[in-house]
Amino acid sequence: MLKNDLILRAAKGEAVERTPVWLMRQAGRILPEYRAVRSSLSGFIELVTTPHLAAEVTIQPVDLLGVDAAIIFSDILVIPEAMGLAYEMVEKKGPYFPEVVSSQADVDKIKIADAQSDLGYVLEAIKITKKELDNRVPLIGFAGCPWTIFCYMVEGSGSKTFSKARKMLFQEPAMAHQLLQKITDSTILYLKEQIKAGADMIQIFDSWAGILNPTHYQEFSMKYIKQICNAINEVPITTFAKGAYFALPSMKDLNCNTIGLDWNMDIANARSLYGDTKTLQGNLDPCALYGSYDEVKKETESMLDQFKGARHIANLGHGVYPDTDPDKVRCFIEHVKEYSAR
Ligand code: CP3
Repeated sequence: MLKNDLILRAAKGEAVERTPVWLMRQAGRILPEYRAVRSSLSGFIELVTTPHLAAEVTIQPVDLLGVDAAIIFSDILVIPEAMGLAYEMVEKKGPYFPEVVSSQADVDKIKIADAQSDLGYVLEAIKITKKELDNRVPLIGFAGCPWTIFCYMVEGSGSKTFSKARKMLFQEPAMAHQLLQKITDSTILYLKEQIKAGADMIQIFDSWAGILNPTHYQEFSMKYIKQICNAINEVPITTFAKGAYFALPSMKDLNCNTIGLDWNMDIANARSLYGDTKTLQGNLDPCALYGSYDEVKKETESMLDQFKGARHIANLGHGVYPDTDPDKVRCFIEHVKEYSAR
């Protein structure tokens, strides 16, 4: 039995004594203890593929920051790799794919990932983490949404516009759909295995949702998010579509428990769209954590007041930025706990 299951209860819309809190990208970006583990290795990918070390850095934020959930240390890019496109993580620059998908022949070569054989290292990390967490807090499993994964597989790296990826939607929509379906099938199998290995909750990240026009978002992203949400019924699932404020009304019908809001999204508007049918997660501007302790507390209170405690999981509106002072993060977490229990 979990000793702290606040986040699971909040996701399901059950009563909670206070608002649960965790941070997107809590594992890895900000802790000196993470950098110490990382510095002894050849790079990020070695850490991701070494289960006992991935487990160690997954648990660090629980011990050092006091969050109400752990999120498995991995990356959304393990899926394209398992489908046949290896990636590199270039220091200070980000992901790079030496090979990309640009033709029908490339799409044909892409395989459906076999979670057991291709992603066994993540499943092993989940099993070790669950054992070492010893039921202190739930463990969140995750994957990228098909559209966001498609962006990296077509573009080959990060981009401000992902114009190659968007170009394919206009020039070769049928081909784009084939690739998106392969990503979706791989993702569903992978998430089911994460749950079997011990994930208590799932979040899907549509980090590049906001660059699509609303029509394309429905056709090339929501269509596949729906499939994932319909397939995952074992544990609560959260959909976080960064920048897709235009799609919030259509998410009402999504078969998921929680909708993540970024800091541009209006809390009252989201609440009025969903009533009490969804939990909302978010959405403090990550830059609020650069303020003084008093300002961090003030901003946290203002956010909590807007959510008014109804079906809420406190978080930032996107991942915590790498140069954030861990003490300010602790201040945010402590203040959510203290203020929401009043
Ligand atoms: O949330 C967590 O702490 C768990 C681990 C996690 C990582 N990446 C570890 C990581 C999660 C959930 C992700 C998700 C991820 N990865 C997303 C979606 C969420 C979002 O922020 O929008 C995206 C778009 C990626 C792709 C990715 N991975 C990029 C663009 C980069 C480079 C820059 C950066 O840090 O974001 C990564 C590398 C990465 N993934 C690092 C970590 C800790 C930095 C690695 C290092 O050098 O130590």
